[in-house]
Amino acid sequence: MQTIQLKDKRFQLYLSESEIQSRIKEITNELLKKFKNKKPVFIVVLRGAFMFASDLLKQYNSACEIEFVKLTSYEGMLSSGKINIELGLNEARIKGRDIIILEDIVDSGLTMLFFKQYLETLQPQSVSLVSFLFKPENLEHDIAIDITGFSIPNLFVIGYGLDYDGEGRNFPAVYQLAQ
Ligand code: IMP
Repeated sequence: MQTIQLKDKRFQLYLSESEIQSRIKEITNELLKKFKNKKPVFIVVLRGAFMFASDLLKQYNSACEIEFVKLTSYEGMLSSGKINIELGLNEARIKGRDIIILEDIVDSGLTMLFFKQYLETLQPQSVSLVSFLFKPENLEHDIAIDITGFSIPNLFVIGYGLDYDGEGRNFPAVYQLAQ
């Protein structure tokens, strides 16, 4: 599909399904190498990272654990500037472990700054951040991303887990707001 209408906005194709899938293969191979002989704990950041995490983890054919956390900040197309943890972690599973955070997108960096600071209080062995998308032009906080799927300009995007006001998460490709 080339364009999608969601509520009052039209979106056009930005990253195709095959581009996304081949990048995910590369990322998974990098992780399998980096965590060889280890048993990392993946933390999937809901809701946006569910599709990225699902595709990546189906290919991660080595021992690991998977936890979920639900963080919210966005209202419509704007960040509220306040992060809420709506679904917490199984905190006992974090101490002394190698953690891999799977996030949908790093925009201002506020969500990941907040979350990484919280994780550190649970005393993990290491924390790696893997973000499907990254908007470097918007970064306001000092956040280290270990692996980025795609760096993108300052565009509002939907699809592949990302939403516009609750819609659009189900599409297997990424779409940008049409001009
Ligand atoms: P940050 O805290 O500003 O880095 O924002 C991170 C969160 O904002 C992500 O986890 C997304 O849920 C949301 N977000 C940022 N940019 C977009 C976008 O272009 N489309 C949809 N959601 C976005």
